[in-house]
Amino acid sequence: EKGGYPSFMEKEINDQPQAVGDTLLGRSDIEGRLTLDELRIDPEDLKSINKIMVLACGTSAYAGQVAKYAIEHWCRIPVEVELSHEFRYRDPIVDEHTLIVAISQSGETMDTLMAVRYAKEQGAKVLAICNTNGSTIPRESDAVLYTHAGPEIAVASTKAFLAQITAAYLLGLYLAQLRGDKFQGEIKDMLADLAKVPAKIQQVLDSSDQIKELAELMADAKSVLFLGRHVGFPVAMEGALKLKELAYIHAEGFAAGELKHGPIALIEEGQPVFVVVPSPRGRDSLHAKVVSNIQEIRARGAKTIVIAEEGDDAVKAYAEHVFYVPETPTLLAPLLTTVPLQIFACALATAKGFDVDQPRNLAKSVTVE
Ligand code: F6R
Repeated sequence: EKGGYPSFMEKEINDQPQAVGDTLLGRSDIEGRLTLDELRIDPEDLKSINKIMVLACGTSAYAGQVAKYAIEHWCRIPVEVELSHEFRYRDPIVDEHTLIVAISQSGETMDTLMAVRYAKEQGAKVLAICNTNGSTIPRESDAVLYTHAGPEIAVASTKAFLAQITAAYLLGLYLAQLRGDKFQGEIKDMLADLAKVPAKIQQVLDSSDQIKELAELMADAKSVLFLGRHVGFPVAMEGALKLKELAYIHAEGFAAGELKHGPIALIEEGQPVFVVVPSPRGRDSLHAKVVSNIQEIRARGAKTIVIAEEGDDAVKAYAEHVFYVPETPTLLAPLLTTVPLQIFACALATAKGFDVDQPRNLAKSVTVE
């Protein structure tokens, strides 16, 4: 049932082209207009929302953080992302014009379920992004957008994460479509770019030997840092979480711009730092800023491991190791840049002899608050 792989986790990492492809499947008509039939919330109600709040925990919350960048850009609706267990206990401002997006692989996470119940009591509409048919969170929500990643067995989430991001992009594009036809061109382009992502994930998987070798060499690392900016920030957080969970190594993700506000003090000779570099084709000189962050930490002795876009030669001069992912629009890049980080954590934990499917102290679904 592991499909010839030594662990469910490896199988699930390798299932990701299909997980993303299946999540995209059948969700637009022949004219390229999105048709999210399962949405079940009156489009008029969706048009009247003035705020989106994403509620989730762990990896699913990082999917929400990625979604925030995309949905705000496409829809011009403010998006807040909050951990379910924090939301519930702080007297949040929610009303009938708030759309709650609850993201949960299992659909059974108690923290998120309690947050959903609370939001409904306040009159908010709740849409679940969920991987498990008929589970509690979608049953209690007004609408559901299922991710079609297939059952995820390994405790640490991989393919569900990419599928959640994909579903959240579809939601964002759908809301943009509802808000006016002037977006139709951009929506079409994005859907076309999304359709190309599964094959690009496959390319990343096919060139993963190098990252596995690096992971084996780093089995003795005591601490690994991850830096990212814009959508690369939640990717860095996710890379750090995978390493903590699987390899029991201290790992932290930071927003690259935050470095000089504190974390740079951690950099000393030999400190491994992964840097998720934005596309050099993107806007706002993000790329240049992150490259200069790499220079800053390199000058202080960091061992820099860079995830960059194919053709980005500028990073080579400052990186011990560079792993390239195919070109894609900046907002979609997390579907590619996450993959080497998953492979790294899985390979490092395997090199240490740990069970990657059942990390210590963790359960697949957390059904207590
Ligand atoms: C990390 C991981 C957890 C879950 C979190 C939420 O690899 O698996 O952080 O993402 O417990 O679970 P769901 O998505 O089932 O609500």
